[in-house]
Amino acid sequence: MPKIVLIQGSLSPESKTALVIAETGKVLASKGIDFETLDLRSLDMQFCDGRSLKDYNEDMQKAHRILDSADGFIFGMPVYCWSFSGALKNFIDITAGALEKKVAGILCNAGGSHSFMASSDLVRVLFYESGVMTVHPIVYTNAGDFEDGRLAGEKALSKIVVMVDALIQRLPE
Ligand SMILES: Cc1cc2nc3c(=O)[nH]c(=O)nc-3n(C[C@H](O)[C@H](O)[C@H](O)COP(=O)(O)O)c2cc1C
Repeated sequence: MPKIVLIQGSLSPESKTALVIAETGKVLASKGIDFETLDLRSLDMQFCDGRSLKDYNEDMQKAHRILDSADGFIFGMPVYCWSFSGALKNFIDITAGALEKKVAGILCNAGGSHSFMASSDLVRVLFYESGVMTVHPIVYTNAGDFEDGRLAGEKALSKIVVMVDALIQRLPE
């Protein structure tokens, strides 16, 4: 059975990206899809300095193994300065080899309503570095989509389902 790994790319203890990831996990579960979540907050993350993978700590090597075992990914990216977070970029810098030629969906979470194009940076990095094709649509959420500590925006919730369906279609049998 194909497996999807969700990558939660915010280090904030109050992360809204994590809430979107959690909702996406519910959608995957409802469809009987095998998945695992890598939340960057739970990793002992080191900075990428160009060393070989074997010289990073066990957490980074384990994360690489988990990504390697996946057929597809869903990246949750917080928008920082019109791009994706530095923490997520650092994570990809170390683990890009495990993403090679796979498919991915994107959850782009911002504060404001005009930062959608920040996701194009992630599309570009994934494609040029690892040949990862990202699916349409990209799910965009902002501060107005959250209520009482949960994702409440109907448009975003339904778009998650469409994005997941598009991703599933591109997974190997
Ligand atoms: C350093 C920093 C830069 C940010 N830059 C943007 C931005 O360019 N556009 C935007 O709409 N929101 C921006 N925000 C707001 C975040 O996208 C927003 O707080 C979002 O919820 C972050 O995801 P998280 O809650 O999962 O950490 C920024 C926040 C921080 C801390």
